[in-house]
Amino acid sequence: MADKILVFYGSYRSDRMGIRLADYVVAGLNARGAEAELIDAQAVGLPMLDRMYKEYPQGAAPAAMEALAQKIRGADAFVFVTGEYNWGPQPGLKNLTDHFLEEWFWRPAAVASYSAGRFSGVRSGTLWHSILSEMGMVVISSTLAVGPISQTLDAGGKPTGGPGESLERSFGRFADDLAWWTEAARTQRAQKAPPY
Ligand SMILES: Cc1cc2nc3c(=O)[nH]c(=O)nc-3n(C[C@H](O)[C@H](O)[C@H](O)COP(=O)(O)O)c2cc1C
Repeated sequence: MADKILVFYGSYRSDRMGIRLADYVVAGLNARGAEAELIDAQAVGLPMLDRMYKEYPQGAAPAAMEALAQKIRGADAFVFVTGEYNWGPQPGLKNLTDHFLEEWFWRPAAVASYSAGRFSGVRSGTLWHSILSEMGMVVISSTLAVGPISQTLDAGGKPTGGPGESLERSFGRFADDLAWWTEAARTQRAQKAPPY
């Protein structure tokens, strides 16, 4: 059974760079036999948080929110591709995730961070570990940290030069770690219902 993995990315900037890493992760997971899908917060277009999904009466949530809730419920695992704005998470990605809670529970999540410079967005990536944990996901320890992103991936999301080779070496372990926890969580959910 192919792992259904949602890859989230949340920059709304016209000149956004992180889409390169999001595309790379989706392609890399699919090349390993997963069913990975990009969830681009800008394309989903949720409003600034007013009501969470669960606060709408059944069937009354906006169509894009309802569709995303169903996708999250049906996924086996998640990857969060995060840049860093002033040492913090990007608001577009945080806004999207805050619309949901129980929909995230009992699945593993992985963090892939990036930035324009050498620090690779790791300060934001570290914050995402606690955010995702609070939202009921089990965050795996392997991470991707990409920087400078413009020297690591081309506009098509293909690795370039030495930094690109380094990313390729890290990706195998990252994907193996996520796949192991994805299988473990799916097996456990199948044999024992989550306690709440
Ligand atoms: C508002 C803003 C704040 C930024 N703050 C940081 C930062 O704290 N650390 C960092 O490494 N890069 C920072 N950068 C540079 C980003 O790493 C770079 O612009 C990156 O491409 C942003 O991701 P995006 O292009 O996907 O939106 C910042 C960029 C913006 C626009």
